[in-house]
Amino acid sequence: MAQAPINNPILALSKEHRFILEQMAGVEAVLKQPDAEAMAAHLRSIESAFMPFVEKHFRFEEEVLFPAALEAMPVGPTIRVILQLTREHGEFLRWARDLFAWARSSRRFEGLEGAVRRQDIKAGIDLIRQHSHLEVTDLFPRISGNPRCCQMIEAVLARGVTGF
Ligand SMILES: [Fe+2]
Ligand SMILES: [Fe+2]
Repeated sequence: MAQAPINNPILALSKEHRFILEQMAGVEAVLKQPDAEAMAAHLRSIESAFMPFVEKHFRFEEEVLFPAALEAMPVGPTIRVILQLTREHGEFLRWARDLFAWARSSRRFEGLEGAVRRQDIKAGIDLIRQHSHLEVTDLFPRISGNPRCCQMIEAVLARGVTGF
């Protein structure tokens, strides 16, 4: 899926969540099968589209959205939620890179309970679901409800310096 044009950045990011969560639902569906090789094949089939998409999504949030929110709303709840979301980006990327590396490696023949544990895979899927939910129900409404923050985001995008 191509990334959505960012005319309304918050709406575009919300739509991108749909793609990310759909891909994770696919991983979860394969996870229900006992077959480690089917799991690995599914992961290999989505990695090249999924990882750059997620990395760009996180980068936009960290380089444009979060700084604007911190500057426009430098209060405890905003700071806390952004700290948590930033930490979760790192956790999710580590999880995803490990998982895709496993899918490409010969260690996958050790099976899901060997090199990669089924519950660890589920933990990463749950993490990104909760993360997306927190953004959509907490941070994004704060940003949308703050005209100054929206203007700052639009101004950064209009300058075109970030590559988004
Ligand atoms: Fe995020
Ligand atoms: Fe997001």
